[in-house]
Amino acid sequence: MTNIIIISAVGLNNEIGVNNKLIWTIKKDLNFFKRVTINHKIVMGHNTFMSLPKVLEGRSYIILTHHNIDNEKVLVFNNYEELICYLNSINEDIFIIGGESLYRLFLNEAKFLLLTEINKSFPHADTYFPYFDKNNYIREVIKKDRENDIDFCHVLYRKK
Ligand SMILES: NC(=O)c1ccc[n+]([C@@H]2O[C@H](COP(=O)([O-])OP(=O)(O)OC[C@H]3O[C@@H](n4cnc5c(N)ncnc54)[C@H](OP(=O)(O)O)[C@@H]3O)[C@@H](O)[C@H]2O)c1
Repeated sequence: MTNIIIISAVGLNNEIGVNNKLIWTIKKDLNFFKRVTINHKIVMGHNTFMSLPKVLEGRSYIILTHHNIDNEKVLVFNNYEELICYLNSINEDIFIIGGESLYRLFLNEAKFLLLTEINKSFPHADTYFPYFDKNNYIREVIKKDRENDIDFCHVLYRKK
């Protein structure tokens, strides 16, 4: 069975990005992201792909875009329906890593939301995690942590 898992780092107002970058750089969270996604397929929108500062080793990239991407290391899909059909055929844990438009597309499909809840807000954000009804999920705190004055918490939401 394919498990679709959304992974994201969100601020107090669900902010996730600004100017096609992350808002906060939290090393411990980036390490957590690496540990969780290593050896898995990661699905992202074209903007997120363009925003990555370096190749994330040990992960296979799947990119949703209306355009072609001239890179033989990535798998490209030009529409959501074909992508979801492919994902459901491969019986793996799949991580949707962003950004906003991909989170919106996959929110209904994802059984798990693995969120880093950051105890900060950023009023100039331009991308947000979509609203979801927490009553429809079981919330499990995995770990509370802190780095450079930023409190954050890894939380798993499992759809009831
Ligand atoms: N905090 C976090 O955890 C986190 C994680 C990831 C990203 N982010 C942030 O999120 C922001 C980017 O989010 P975003 O919403 O602007 O971009 P995005 O979701 O990464 O990518 C959007 C692009 O994906 C393609 N796309 C989306 N839906 C499609 C569809 N149905 N069919 C074909 N292509 C489709 C389009 O590419 P084309 O224009 O090429 O057609 C679209 O412009 C950045 O600031 C990034 O740093 C934050």
